[in-house]
Amino acid sequence: MAVLSKQVAVPKFGFSPIPVIDMSDPESKHALVKACEDFGFFKVINHGISAELVSVLEHETVEFFSLPKSEKTLVAGYPFGYGNSKIGRNGDVGWVEYLLMNASLDSGSGPLFPSLLKSPGTFRNALEEYTTSVRKMTCDVLEMITDGLGINPRNTLSKLVSDQNTDSILRLNHYPPCPLINKKTNCGKNVIGFGEHTDPQIISVLRSNNTSGLQINLTDGSWVSVPPDHSSFFFNVGDSLQVMTNGRFKSVRHRVLANGDKSRVSMIYFAGPSLTQRIAPLTCLMDNEDEMLYEEFTWSEYRNSAYNSRLSDNRLQQFERKTTNSNTLLND
Ligand code: OGA
Ligand code: NI
Repeated sequence: MAVLSKQVAVPKFGFSPIPVIDMSDPESKHALVKACEDFGFFKVINHGISAELVSVLEHETVEFFSLPKSEKTLVAGYPFGYGNSKIGRNGDVGWVEYLLMNASLDSGSGPLFPSLLKSPGTFRNALEEYTTSVRKMTCDVLEMITDGLGINPRNTLSKLVSDQNTDSILRLNHYPPCPLINKKTNCGKNVIGFGEHTDPQIISVLRSNNTSGLQINLTDGSWVSVPPDHSSFFFNVGDSLQVMTNGRFKSVRHRVLANGDKSRVSMIYFAGPSLTQRIAPLTCLMDNEDEMLYEEFTWSEYRNSAYNSRLSDNRLQQFERKTTNSNTLLND
C-alpha cells in the first residue's frame, strides 16, 4: 500500500464540541439547524436503525476486506468497485482500501449492487437493508431540517434524495493499522488515511467502528478529532446543501488519520440528487436584499467537476458569484 506520510497540524482541543441530535425529540430541529450552520456536522442518536443490521454489515465488510488482494481486485473498478490507496484519478493517495457502490434506487431490481458481488447473499442483503434504512433516516433528518428552517413543503429537501433516479453512493472504507505510526523512523508524524475534503453531495451519513481517526475542520481552521461511536451516525453537510442554503449551512472539511494499532472500518452513504437536478440557492430561504452567492449548476455538472479535481480542492470556488459590490469595483 502506498504511504503518504506528512506533518499535519495536531488538533487543538481535548474536548469534543460535536453537536448531538436526538431524533426522538421533534424539538431537536433547532439544534439541528444550528449544527449545520456552525459545523456542517452532527451526531445522531435515537435514530431507530437496528444495531443488529449494522453489525451484520460490519461483519460482512470485514470479511470482504480480509479476502486475498487477488480476489478483491476482481471487483476493482471506477467509479464503482474496489480500490486501494488511490482515491479518485487525480493523484490522491491514502492509507485506505475501499469498496464503492451505486446505491441509487434505480440501480436494478433485485440485487442493489448487481455486477459487483459474485455471491454472498448475506452481504448483498445487508447492503440493501442498510441502504434502505439509512436513506429513510436521511429523509427524516432532511425533513427535520426543513421544519427547523421553516420551509414548506417539508419534503423540499428529502425528495431530492428519495426519488427513483437519485444518484447516491455507498462507500465502505477500511483503514488497516499502519505500521509506520509510533515507529522511530516516522518521527511521530501522522499518516493520512483519507485526505482532507468536503463531500460534494447533499448530505453524507457515516457510521464507523470504535476506532478513532475522523477529524473535522472548524470555521477557525483548527482540526478536531471526532470521538468514534459505533452506535450513532455522523452527518456531514455536503457542497450541494451549502449552495441550496446560499452558504448558511457549511459543507464541512474533514479527513481521516491512520491508526497505529487498530483498523478502522467505516460505511458512508452519500445522498445525492438526480443527475439533472438543478442546484441553486432556495428562493424561499432568501430575503429580498440577499444576493445569490453561487451560479446555478446541475448535479451532473458538479459531479463531473468533482471527479476531475483533487480531494482538497475547493470545488465550489468556480461556481461562486461575484457580488454586486465586487462587480462595481471591477467596473471602476
Ligand atoms: C469519505 C470520508 C471518512 C471515513 O469517504 O468521504 O470522509 O471515516 N470517509 O472513512
Ligand atoms: Ni468525506
